[in-house]
Amino acid sequence: MVSASFPNTRLRRNRRYDWLRDLVAETSVSPKDLVWPLFIRDKGTSATVPSLPGVRRYLVEELQDAVSLAQEAGVTALMLFPVVEQHLKDAKASQSLNPEGLVLNATRALAHLAPNMGIMVDLALDPFTDHGHDGFYHEGDVLNDATVEHLCQVALLQAEAGAHMIAPSDMMDGRIGAIRKTLDGAGYNHVGILAYAAKYASSLYGPFRDIVDSSGCLKGGSKATYQMDPRNGNEAMREVAQDIAQGADAVMVKPGSLYLDIVYRVKSTFQIPTFAYHVSGEYAMLKAAAAAGYLDEPAVLLETLTAFKRAGADAIITYSALEAGHFLQEALS
Ligand code: PBG
Repeated sequence: MVSASFPNTRLRRNRRYDWLRDLVAETSVSPKDLVWPLFIRDKGTSATVPSLPGVRRYLVEELQDAVSLAQEAGVTALMLFPVVEQHLKDAKASQSLNPEGLVLNATRALAHLAPNMGIMVDLALDPFTDHGHDGFYHEGDVLNDATVEHLCQVALLQAEAGAHMIAPSDMMDGRIGAIRKTLDGAGYNHVGILAYAAKYASSLYGPFRDIVDSSGCLKGGSKATYQMDPRNGNEAMREVAQDIAQGADAVMVKPGSLYLDIVYRVKSTFQIPTFAYHVSGEYAMLKAAAAAGYLDEPAVLLETLTAFKRAGADAIITYSALEAGHFLQEALS
């Protein structure tokens, strides 16, 4: 580092003009850095929920609209989640193995409608279970190994349907290696795994649980026996190291804004593609503040995404992907 000081150095000189600030900018965000989460519903489920304003649940038949919206915003990757009707949820997560399941049908439809669009699928049992946990639940415990075995079967269906990348969000131990082995054994060694490696037991997931309709199932129950303790940072490095050793192609830190120290540490320690999830609660807070007139939404959104990138995230999963894509394209034109 060259050391120079005032008055030879005046750091404000490089901030004097727009063009110069652009030339010296260290970070940039592009719509191609963003992943847009898509919720897939059946006809019996409404299209919206109050806690995620502006986010729609799509019927498989409506996916062309979603594809067009993503393309107009310059967004090139989607992450799919199912919204399973309550009466179909059970303790065994049976619907997760339905070959005509929502996400599987949506994956097949998207592969056909938009062959160049990235299709990532979330993998966990909570949208399918009547207790709302991410794995099988027995006498107060979420069973690790039985859940992993089941996740492998679901992953195989997802790969068969045409998913490009599978994103296990369950936080069971050992699932990345088991899923990798299952996929490889069935001829899907080209299908990637984005591991939700450092996923915290956060209170910011509420609106997501509303939109997948699992809040009522969970009944205030906690996921603290499998998701990470927000007090821990070193432990996140151990989680990430394990997932990489087991074959993860990319890792995720979640939530995003409150965990940028973890994003920074993951990226600088492992130099692996690092995704950050700008989660539902973060989105909802900004929407509420913007609706009240307290914050300028485009400005705060772009600042947030920029902060993710500055911390070291390569890609960001955000419910604001479309808005951000448009704001970014306008800023460039
Ligand atoms: C569950 C899952 C969650 C999210 C993605 N997958 C919630 C949870 O762990 O309860 C949260 C996403 C968000 O809040 O935006 N497997």
